[in-house]
Amino acid sequence: MKIIMLGAPGAGKGTQAKMIADKYNVPHVSTGDIFRANIKNGTELGMEAKKYMDQGLLVPDELTVKILLDRVAQDDCRNGYVLDGFPRTIPQAEVLDNELTKLGETIDFAIDVNVPDENIINRMSGRRACLACGATYHIAHVPPKQEGICDRCGKELVLRDDDKPETVKNRLEIYHEQTQPLIDFYTKKGVLKTVDGTVPMNEVFEAIVAILGE
Ligand code: AP5
Ligand code: MG
Repeated sequence: MKIIMLGAPGAGKGTQAKMIADKYNVPHVSTGDIFRANIKNGTELGMEAKKYMDQGLLVPDELTVKILLDRVAQDDCRNGYVLDGFPRTIPQAEVLDNELTKLGETIDFAIDVNVPDENIINRMSGRRACLACGATYHIAHVPPKQEGICDRCGKELVLRDDDKPETVKNRLEIYHEQTQPLIDFYTKKGVLKTVDGTVPMNEVFEAIVAILGE
């Protein structure tokens, strides 16, 4: 099963992608997580990506596409995956589409987690992220058991550098400009499904399971 998560920054793509990955036993592939892991490890790729991410800009397609294609070519992706944060531009979607066509494969579902801009800024300022394992929390909606510590791996939780309100505004603008056109792209392919992302996360997940099947 190959799934793409669409939605604005902070819509809950990562939250839902992790739940999908657990239930359907497919890897969760997040380009944002891959970039953040590289930044944390001080790699050349990380340093290059950080220049864009800290301003809320997209990392250039050339860099992003290569990383994603390398990742989905790995063995654990053979039976499918859930992509979170990729594609984010029409050119990225076209490259993915071409690669899949070569393999005789297609995307099964593109799930748009729909959340209006007004809700987003509040969510982002409350988000806490674990840079070690990629888990995400929210100080009000999804608090960790122990403040500031990841339930899953015990490492420290941080406010992401790009979650400051000013940067979130940039990210939202770029989302509307460059990523929202993908809704049309996947509607035309007949695989787009929309879920309401404003309800509690378990209800969002129930709506997704109703689409994907038990
Ligand atoms: P990325 O890491 O993908 O960030 P994003 O798309 O901006 O999305 P977020 O991770 O911020 O939000 P999310 O939708 O995953 O929400 P979450 O589940 O955490 O990308 C970061 C940057 O990397 C980009 O800006 C860009 O620079 C670069 N990049 C990445 N991919 C790229 C690409 N393909 N091309 C170019 N550049 C790329 O939820 C948010 C918060 O809300 C959490 O605190 C969560 O606990 C809470 N929450 C979730 N669901 C609910 C709910 N139903 N109710 C209440 N609270 C909820
Ligand atoms: Mg995310």
